[in-house]
Amino acid sequence: MSKLWGGRFTGGLDPRFESFNRSLAVDSRMWREDIRGSIAWAKALLAAQVLDSAEERAIREGLERLAARLEEQPGAFSASQAEDVHSYVEGELKSDIGEPARKLHTGRSRNDQVATDLRLYLKRRAAALEERLVDLQRALVELAEPHAADPMPGFTHLQRAQPVTIGHHLLAYAEMLERDRTRIQDAVARMDRCPLGSGALAGTAFPVDREALARDLGFAGATSNSLDSVASRDHASEIAFACSTVAVHLSRLSEDWIFFASQESRLLELSDAVATGSSLMPQKKNPDSLELLRGKTARVLGALQSLLVLQKGLPLAYDKDLQEDKELLFDALDTVEGCLEVAAITVRSARFDTQRCRAESTRGYANATDLADWLVRRGIPFRDAHERAGAVVRTALEARCEIEELPAPAWRAQLPELADVTQEQWRAELCADAVLERRNQVGGTSPSRVRTEILEWKRRLEAWKTASRA
Ligand code: ARG
Repeated sequence: MSKLWGGRFTGGLDPRFESFNRSLAVDSRMWREDIRGSIAWAKALLAAQVLDSAEERAIREGLERLAARLEEQPGAFSASQAEDVHSYVEGELKSDIGEPARKLHTGRSRNDQVATDLRLYLKRRAAALEERLVDLQRALVELAEPHAADPMPGFTHLQRAQPVTIGHHLLAYAEMLERDRTRIQDAVARMDRCPLGSGALAGTAFPVDREALARDLGFAGATSNSLDSVASRDHASEIAFACSTVAVHLSRLSEDWIFFASQESRLLELSDAVATGSSLMPQKKNPDSLELLRGKTARVLGALQSLLVLQKGLPLAYDKDLQEDKELLFDALDTVEGCLEVAAITVRSARFDTQRCRAESTRGYANATDLADWLVRRGIPFRDAHERAGAVVRTALEARCEIEELPAPAWRAQLPELADVTQEQWRAELCADAVLERRNQVGGTSPSRVRTEILEWKRRLEAWKTASRA
């Protein structure tokens, strides 16, 4: 396979270095972008009167034929010895149309070419990632709806804290994913500038209209500094960071649900479709999908770290080190997309044990704060109320029962402020439903608040559907 750069060399490459140097197996994924960029570049060269219209047409039609062929045979790259996707596309074009292909690289470098391909590719992948995020949000909202009013235990420090609604728990994750989604959009908006026409590092010497070229490729505009254009990969870091926050959020959801699905909690049951058994212990049902979601987070965070380290010592402008960016980034994207898909399946098929969730929601004195708040409403300063409610918890601990199960004489003796309260009122005020209903301010866990949020989410997700179809 002839090289794109053979002229000044007399010796050939050591075959071991040749394969070390080759990136086709990784960057061939960007073939669509490479062809699209080349068609646009040929058009720009025509406008700059570097190509005549017959040459430009031969190049365009040759590239379109190549695209059609690659669409048919996605495995075509494995048989090729080309150095990278850019060499591959140019080489194939040359064997198809001959001479005009030799003019295509005028004023262009693989440095601005790969920078352009990568941005185009990331824009495409970012859109797909957003769709997957929205699908998982939809799954969470769908599950939240029937559980808007169902209590479950809420935790801090993994200790029973206060009851929350199951719907509220689920919507917490929808919120995190929404920030992830807009984080991706922000990253895309910043990378939406076209580096093509920056040449190897100093710009192109031919009168190419870079703004027109940028628009032709669907970018908001052209980049402003050729050195920066070919050397920078902070957009890659940003996408890897956005992938990392998605992964971390999925990992936290996994950790929550692994615990909820454990024999220790039994708040949730995973579907057989996403759990596995043990080859040894017949009774086991293991939450593998969740464990893998948690585990795969490690490689995504690793990719972000590697990308940053990859760039930290690089002098301007392009350095071959940057060829390593794609494998890391593609793996992060593939991993997170796969994780989002499996997370959506897991959420859609999970079943909360609402009875058990309810029974457990106030157990462990998770309503003690509400007892203190009750005393506050009877005029006691919160610090004192906290102390008094704590003493009631101690009494209940000694009696080995819950606060609401304490016999009236026990709590009346400690809380004269509640002397008028009957035993039924005592129970009713401290039951899970009452505890939840009080928290109906914005952001709170009350069923009515959660229902309002669900409506808002449905509206938002519907609007997204319409916008993405437009
Ligand atoms: N395969 C290279 C990469 O991914 C393309 C750019 C190569 N440029 C060069 N001057 N060798 O970064």
